[in-house]
Amino acid sequence: MKILVVGSGGREHAIIKKLKENKSVEKIYALPGNGGISADAECVAIGAKDIPGIVDFAVKKSVDYAVVAPDDPLVLGCVDALEQKGIPCFGPNKKAAIIEGSKVFSKNLMKKYGIPTAKYEVFDSPQAALEYLDSAPIPTVIKADGLALGKGVIIAFSLEEAKDAVREIMEDRKFGASGERIVIEEYLEGPEVSVLSFTDGKAIVPMLSSMDHKRALDGDKGLNTGGMGTIAPNPYYTDEIAKRCMSEIFLPTVNAMNQEGRSFKGCLYFGLMLTKDGPKVIEYNCRFGDPETQVVLPMLETDLLTIMQAVTEERLGDLEVRFRSGSACCVVMASRGYPGAYEKGCEIFIPQELSDSVYIAGAELKDGRLVTSGGRVLGVTAVKKSLSEAVDAAYNMAGKISFENAYYRHDIGKRALEALKD
Ligand code: AMP
Ligand code: GLY
Repeated sequence: MKILVVGSGGREHAIIKKLKENKSVEKIYALPGNGGISADAECVAIGAKDIPGIVDFAVKKSVDYAVVAPDDPLVLGCVDALEQKGIPCFGPNKKAAIIEGSKVFSKNLMKKYGIPTAKYEVFDSPQAALEYLDSAPIPTVIKADGLALGKGVIIAFSLEEAKDAVREIMEDRKFGASGERIVIEEYLEGPEVSVLSFTDGKAIVPMLSSMDHKRALDGDKGLNTGGMGTIAPNPYYTDEIAKRCMSEIFLPTVNAMNQEGRSFKGCLYFGLMLTKDGPKVIEYNCRFGDPETQVVLPMLETDLLTIMQAVTEERLGDLEVRFRSGSACCVVMASRGYPGAYEKGCEIFIPQELSDSVYIAGAELKDGRLVTSGGRVLGVTAVKKSLSEAVDAAYNMAGKISFENAYYRHDIGKRALEALKD
């Protein structure tokens, strides 16, 4: 089989490595991929948002199956365009991808179908939003409606901060058209859990739960990033909470999307907060999380391509999806300065014996050498019997990988380990 994977990050590298385990896979094209992914797939310089370019390439190469991983192409209708040419895909169509593409849509969906989430109001004019804030409880959370590279959420701890956020998003258009409308919502507290799930619109199979570490610095300090590391499973996500999530959140969401004529097929990501009033949805994503994928897929025992094809063909309910026991930890190595400005072009040294455990995100090949080209450069994942062993092993490997100005957090998994002790 010839497979095409759209995207270029560590998540895509993890998907590609897993797909390669299937013996029927002869060739994988990554569009555009990156210098590190090129060790595992043929990278082709077609951007993930270039839908006509992706479709032309897929037709020309007669690919048998396509996996569309990032949010942008999904929201732009990449799956619809590929399916029109008869290419089976993993990923939601445009109508279903709106669950991530518009926060107003997802909040209204949850309200209509009684799915637990933070209370909220929607605004399409800055004046109304600013007026509302005068009597809103603080802290409060301001969210741009559309995609904003994961940066469209501002938690305001004072009225001034909240008003500044509204002005930046709606008046200065910091996130472009994504800021035409905003959601202002109730601030929730509690441990966060990411649950990625496979769904074909009929059955839903949650994957192993995980915990992201979004802040740049140790102790959850510093700016929000795409994610500095992950662990799985998440110790806060007990069997009892999992059962509640299935009946109060996961199944109701699949049913709600069906009712709306937007049946979701692909990976549906639930960003949850375990509040004292029970689990609530913080966000939906229409795709695999990054770097959650880098801990969840290495724990997957069932063949990934088999699951993906079952999703496409709507026979997921017939399949048993198994995860191995034990724990995984992924430490993200970034360029110092990220998520602000950082240097690029530093050579990356990875011992050969670690290559199976490393997922490259921001690197390119220059004269045959792998050099940094992004903020998050790579993730290194260990899978072990216990979480503490996985954390130690991931840090041990990170210590053997080097590039100038490398930066990583030293406390990935710390909170989870403390939760296990309680
Ligand atoms: P998102 O981009 O929707 O994942 O939001 C980024 C982060 O903001 C989440 O992971 C949470 O830590 C935080 N967040 C989002 N919504 C809320 C909320 N209503 N209350 C508290 N924190 C929130
Ligand atoms: N790690 C969070 C996300 O993928 O959105």
